[in-house]
Amino acid sequence: MGKHTQCVHSGSMADRVTRGLNTPIFTSSSFEYLDVPENVYPRYFNTPNQKAVSEKLRALENTESGMLFSSGMAAISTVIFALASSGDHVVMQRDIYGGTHHFATAEFERFGIEFAFVGNAAQEFEKAIRENTRLVYIETPSNPLLRITDIAAVAKLAKSRGILTAIDNTFASPINQNPHDLGIDIVIHSGTKYLGGHSDLCCGAVLTSQAIMDRITASAVNFGGSLNAVTCYLLERSLKTLGIRVETQNRNALALARHLQDHPRVTTVYYPGLETHPGFDIARRQMRGFGGMLSFELDEKQIQPDRFARKLQLITPALSLGGVETIICAPALTSHVKVSAEDRREMGISDGLFRLSVGIEDVDDLVADVDRALE
Ligand SMILES: Cc1ncc(COP(=O)(O)O)c(C=O)c1O
Repeated sequence: MGKHTQCVHSGSMADRVTRGLNTPIFTSSSFEYLDVPENVYPRYFNTPNQKAVSEKLRALENTESGMLFSSGMAAISTVIFALASSGDHVVMQRDIYGGTHHFATAEFERFGIEFAFVGNAAQEFEKAIRENTRLVYIETPSNPLLRITDIAAVAKLAKSRGILTAIDNTFASPINQNPHDLGIDIVIHSGTKYLGGHSDLCCGAVLTSQAIMDRITASAVNFGGSLNAVTCYLLERSLKTLGIRVETQNRNALALARHLQDHPRVTTVYYPGLETHPGFDIARRQMRGFGGMLSFELDEKQIQPDRFARKLQLITPALSLGGVETIICAPALTSHVKVSAEDRREMGISDGLFRLSVGIEDVDDLVADVDRALE
């Protein structure tokens, strides 16, 4: 099935009692255990609503198995702690979501997990791999600089050494990019972003093979970051329009990126769909669309970043991303505030950097709002 058909139909559980079209919300946290094939319980990740949405996402990412979590970080931390133990080594891309970066620097050492941050060229991963490396972790396009990592090259390299690979596919969404098809073992999403899409829920997802999922599940039931039935239902409802939302966001972001690139008060635009982006050729190869996220820097000699943000009328300065409404943030004050100033400098995140999460509004209104504030 095509992506839009999967969005609408995969995993849906018709209501056999009333013959309603939608998956009912099953609120029980207690299920009978006699004469059933497995014990069902929310923290075992196997309730009907959890299964319905996991199946839709599994289909969209073309993996054997899917699992939902209560946040993106619950998904990321569970995957890493399930697959890496004391004495193991993890190679991580340096330019990633600030929360994931902070998770590594704040938690790994306490649990005896060694790690290295590397640039996003495949050779950098190769150089960092050691005898005890168990996992290679990437994010592309990355948060917030939209750097592009060659997914197939990293997957091939890790596979040749018998090392598992995981990717944060949040920025691309399964509409624009399917990393498992390119050889990545584990695909992770902060579902709080594009999958939810309406800035009103928090969840995460992991999509992988059944064998790897069995290993992750063994730890996940202990860590307990499962998702409740009502949020599962909201997510299922949102996913039905994921394809049309993301395609509109792709179009709007490309138009805004081109517009900003030509503006005299903007010095740099980071968007993988611009021919001038260093990752453009790789992005074109591995993505179907370039996504709804872009970043840019203003010419601070001409315009104060804070004043610009306050002059916007339609676009709201706000945390998070991936919703239907266009929002803007300064990563140094939001998504990467927990990353030290020195690490931010090393990552290339300036204090004046803005990140736009482009929504589904009429693009002319977005352009007009940006132009008015720049003026
Ligand atoms: C790329 C990326 N991955 C993961 C996360 C963490 O997700 P959550 O906030 O749902 O835990 C975020 C949150 O901003 C993100 O931007």
